[in-house]
Amino acid sequence: MIDYHCHILPGIDDGPSTLDESIQMAKLLSAAGYRTVYCTPHKVKYLFDKSNEAVYLSIKDMQRELYRQGIPLRLLAGREYILDNHFLEYINDLMPLEGTNYLLIEIPSGSYQGMILDSITAILQKGLTPMIAHPERCRILTDQRNSKIPKSLSFFKRNSIYGKMLLEYSYQHIDLLEWLLNIDCAFQCNAGSLSGTYGRSVQKAAQRFLNNGMYTHFGTDAHDTFFLEKLNINLKHVKSPKPKMYSSLAFE
Ligand SMILES: [Fe+2]
Repeated sequence: MIDYHCHILPGIDDGPSTLDESIQMAKLLSAAGYRTVYCTPHKVKYLFDKSNEAVYLSIKDMQRELYRQGIPLRLLAGREYILDNHFLEYINDLMPLEGTNYLLIEIPSGSYQGMILDSITAILQKGLTPMIAHPERCRILTDQRNSKIPKSLSFFKRNSIYGKMLLEYSYQHIDLLEWLLNIDCAFQCNAGSLSGTYGRSVQKAAQRFLNNGMYTHFGTDAHDTFFLEKLNINLKHVKSPKPKMYSSLAFE
């Protein structure tokens, strides 16, 4: 099994702060059947801004310790880029998932569509394939035009400036998901989304995307041992049958 999205490296982002905690996470992942983990620390300007070289060095240190302790887990490099207004500053120094041309990106729920389109176009121009991290947790991709706007806005509100803004906002979201599907992005599901770790609405969105065959990769998006312990328990309750993609790609 391969974990395509994990915050396992110590002291790089909001994952574990010590190597010992990272090793504990590795033991849990190994026990759950994972053999390869993509280490994908956040890249967020001013907040989690460590260099790519720091990521490689951290992987090297941790991999050495895994070998020393006999834990059969292979670490590969990657990052999780947030598509904010600083993203394009990193465009010439991107770190795709090691051995692939996938770039793991997170679309913040409050983003402007224009900024997202510009950023993803720049990624494509670099010859990389965007992999959308946990789209089920991204409201601008999960909100549906017909489920919210007509019912939530009265006639008066729909004809006010605020109402028109909401309407436009909603329309933009639907177009964005279609656009992402049309350019053949990869879509990475968080395993915990399917088991309800992030709440009912995320779980429903994940199930809908799964049923539509949208997901191409799976990951834990784990940040600590507590999360992994909870995930292992919750995943036992994920309803079967699981679609083929879930078993073949998530846990290959
Ligand atoms: Fe993440």
